[in-house]
Order: sequence, then structure tokens, then C-alpha cells
Amino acid sequence: MKKTILITGWTGYIGSHAVVAFEQAGYTTVIVDNLSNSSEQVLSKIGKILGYIPDFHKADICDTKALDEVFSKHGFDGVIHFAGLKAVGESCEKPFLYYGNNILGSINLFEAMVRYKVRRIVFSSSATVYSSDNTLPLTESSKLGTTNPYGTSKLVIENVLQDLSLHASLQALPLRYFNPIGAHPSGHIGEKPNGVPNNLLPYILDVALWKREKVRVFWDDYPTIDGTGVRDYIDVNDLVDAHIAAYRKLEEISGDTNGSFTPVNIGTGRGTSVLEMIRMTEEATGKKVAFEKVGRRSWDLAEVYAWVDFAKEFLGWESEKTVKEGIESGWKFISGV
Ligand code: NAD
Ligand code: WQD
Repeated sequence: MKKTILITGWTGYIGSHAVVAFEQAGYTTVIVDNLSNSSEQVLSKIGKILGYIPDFHKADICDTKALDEVFSKHGFDGVIHFAGLKAVGESCEKPFLYYGNNILGSINLFEAMVRYKVRRIVFSSSATVYSSDNTLPLTESSKLGTTNPYGTSKLVIENVLQDLSLHASLQALPLRYFNPIGAHPSGHIGEKPNGVPNNLLPYILDVALWKREKVRVFWDDYPTIDGTGVRDYIDVNDLVDAHIAAYRKLEEISGDTNGSFTPVNIGTGRGTSVLEMIRMTEEATGKKVAFEKVGRRSWDLAEVYAWVDFAKEFLGWESEKTVKEGIESGWKFISGV
């Protein structure tokens, strides 16, 4: 029989790709989102890819009653938890919004899981849980520490999951994503931020599309290949495959009555600079991408990339797509060509 899993935050960028990937991998997904940073239109796009629309609940994970209704209706085998707010800058202006939505919402979800005896959870964590005081590449045992409420919300949720693995037998696999890019090969789903994009590639693609004039490069003569920030860009299609590998890992250890907590880095292990991203986008799209040099953002680091050997060893997963392929699929989604 098909297993039913709950996917929170499924209408969003990564969650929508995950619904498609899990359905295609043979799971039944039940999906929950409050549409705070997404649109119900994603439903029909997923329908175009799958040929049907999974069971959708418009619900807020902060609403315990709504969560209870969802859990009482379905016998979940496990949870893939994407729901959350994710803008670092906004989190500095509105810290309580982030603590409330991300931390309290997650605690409600975990409480429902424990009540309904659902033990498996894959959680969207982030490379932001790592302290700025580390040597590269970042490994799962690098020093933890955050500098903004968004990052803190992720680290607190990880800590809560660790507690619950010890005291409520949850089997938790936090995936620490580096920088997700790209879109589904169909061109139907991808990253469509509301308003001005916070992340680099959506901004660059908007400039290539002539929706915005210039990329503002947060440049600080960093000690990198060309003085601009270097990040580990992971293709969203590879990223969702990592979730399937993670969920299968949890299934493998299901006989174990003990809980578990195993964070895993999800990246490529390679860094790409801002100027390299701009040049690659020009090559992939045939469009000129204008940019200007502006000062650094307060939270920016010079260089961030992952040590990925543990993902390979523990999950049997490694990234396959190149950054160029991520730019090309992102362009196909955003430009419609
Ligand atoms: P997204 O904003 O596109 O998707 C998140 C979804 O969660 C949205 O559809 C939003 O409506 C929903 N949501 C937010 N609060 C909710 C609530 N209280 N109840 C129900 N639904 C709620 O973001 P994304 O890029 O798809 O990110 C998914 C997850 O991955 C987030 O937890 C994010 O923090 C994490 N993450 C993202 C990145 C990235 O760069 N995109 C990197 C690391 C980690
Ligand atoms: C990438 C590079 C910028 C925008 C953030 C979150 C992190 C994670 C991923 C969720 C940096 C430069 C960017 C622009 C620029 N999200 N840049 N001009 O900061 O690595 O990580 O998203 O968990 O938590 O902090 O990603 O895409 O914002 O920046 O020059 O308009 O591009 O300085 O070097 P970041 P980003």
C-alpha cells in the first residue's frame, strides 16, 4: 500500500518540487500551506505535471486545531516540513514574526506528530545554522551559531527536534540546505518570490528579463576569486531527491524504537562567485546582465560551501546537476522560453 506523508509549505518554491518528486516516487502526499508566501495557482501547475492534484489543505501550522483536523483525517507515515518564513533581512526587522511562525509553528507540528504517533520527519534546515567562525568546507560538526532571527529559528527547531528524538522517539533528519537554485524541467514550477527577490539568482534573472535594471552586487573586496561572495548553489531537483533519499533512510531505521537526530549538509561542495553567476546567466540566456558594485550586507560572509561526503555516505545521495543547468531551468521557468 502507498504510504501517506504530510508535506508542509508545499505551495512554496522547494515544497512544490518535493510534492511532484514524492508523488512520482510512489508516495501519497497530503499538503498543507497557509499561502503566506505562495499562491494556490501552484496547484494547477502541479496538476499539469502529475495529471492530478494531491489532497490540499489551506491551513496554518500555528493553528493547532487546523493541524489536529489534518492529522485526525489521515494516517501519516511521516512529515516533510518546509513551512516557514525565510527572508533574513525581514527577520531582523520582525524577529517575533519569525520566532512565532517558524518556531511555534514547528512546535505545534511536532506536538501533533507525537500525539498521533508519527515519528519520521525531514526538516528544511539551512547552512545559516553554522557560525561565521569556521574553516571551509562546512561539515556537519562545524561550529553552530547564528547572527539573525531567521537563522536562530532554524537552530532552535533543530534543538527541539534533537530533544524530541531523545524524549519522544522522533526520527529527525534536518537537511541543511546551502543555496537552492533552478526549477522543474517542465518549466511549470520554480521560484517566484513576492516583490523584490532577496536571493541572488532570481534577481539576476529579473535583470536578464529586463524587469529590473541592474544587479546590486554586495561587494566587499572579499578574499575570493574576484572579490565577490562565493556560495554553494544546489539545484532544486537534486535538493528534492535528497529529501527522498532522507525519507528512505528514515524508513530503513524504522524498526528501531529509539529516536534519532542526524543533520546532513545538502550542497555540491563547490563555490561560485556572484560575478561568475552573472557571466553564466549571460551565457545561458544570451542577455546582458547589468550590475553595479554596492556595499556588503551586514550578515554576508565571503565564502560558504559544504562538505558533502556525509550526505553521500549516509544518504547515498550526491548532487548531479551543474550550476549552469540550474540557471537554464530557472530561466526557462521565469521567461517561459
Ligand atoms: P517558500 O517561501 O517558497 O515556501 C515556504 C512555504 O511555507 C510558503 O508556501 C508559505 O506560504 C508556507 N508557510 C509559511 N509559514 C507557514 C505557516 N505558518 N503555515 C503554513 N504554511 C506556511 O520557501 P522555500 O524556498 O520553498 O523554502 C522552504 C523551506 O526551506 C523553508 O523552511 C526555508 O526556510 C528553507 N530553506 C530555504 C532556502 C532557500 O534559499 N530557498 C535555503 C535553506 C532553507
Ligand atoms: C548569495 C550571494 C550575496 C543578492 C540566503 C540566506 C540563507 C539561505 C539561502 C535560507 C551573496 C550576493 C545577493 C543580491 C548580491 N536561505 N548577492 N546581490 O545570503 O548566501 O543565503 O539564502 O535558509 O539562510 O541567508 O544567499 O542569494 O542572498 O546571496 O550580490 O541582490 O549573492 O552577497 O554573496 P545567502 P543570497
